[in-house]
Amino acid sequence: MPKLCVALDLDEDRAYRLVDLLSDYPLVFKVGPKLFIQSRGKILGYVKEKGRELFLDMKFHDIPNTVSLAVEESVTLGVDYLTLHTLGGEEMLRTAVEAKRDLKLIGVTVLTSHDESYLSFLKTGFKSVEEFALYLAEIAHASGLDGVVCSAGEVRRIKERTGLFTVVPGIRVSGRRGDQRRVYPPEFAVKEGADMLVMGRDIYESDDPRGVVERVLEVVGA
Ligand code: C5P
Repeated sequence: MPKLCVALDLDEDRAYRLVDLLSDYPLVFKVGPKLFIQSRGKILGYVKEKGRELFLDMKFHDIPNTVSLAVEESVTLGVDYLTLHTLGGEEMLRTAVEAKRDLKLIGVTVLTSHDESYLSFLKTGFKSVEEFALYLAEIAHASGLDGVVCSAGEVRRIKERTGLFTVVPGIRVSGRRGDQRRVYPPEFAVKEGADMLVMGRDIYESDDPRGVVERVLEVVGA
């Protein structure tokens, strides 16, 4: 059954309140660098105390030793899902895998803020961002990562080629697109085989966050 992950892209006080409001649902809570720094890491313990799964979205990309030490510390704090850039290279990925224990390592392929000009900048030779992202997903798989972040439009191909766990942002129940380039309804992401739906604004900016969560949990079959 796919999971629903709530992105806590909020100030600390609001983030704690949202966790309080939603922690009786079987959710994963995602913490990014801003909230991690603002809360001095305390938000991680808060989510764990509520008995919920914790997704630390730091998108690490550094020398292998530095990333591996960060993975070890994340394991100690009870992090369940952790992101890193596949562009960090195979040695960085493999070293991280050696340190990960039960934690699930999720690779970022190409950020949605990039387009084809990024491929020229990197002199990759790839013609489309999709092909490059698929190549990086294969690298993630070969290096022993557990999953990748991708859009609902890519899930099917990535699952066919790699079988990796797919983490899918850009999910909308409202018609709003915001700054996301491509957005999809939860029904489509689930149909394509997404393993985790990530939702931020459509939940925390809603007048009824619990109502939205219940609706999406019904779609994922929870
Ligand atoms: O508010 P919204 O539902 O757009 O939030 C999406 C979440 O997914 C944010 O936390 C964002 O950092 C994350 N994300 C994304 N696109 C990616 C990778 C992660 O939107 N390619």
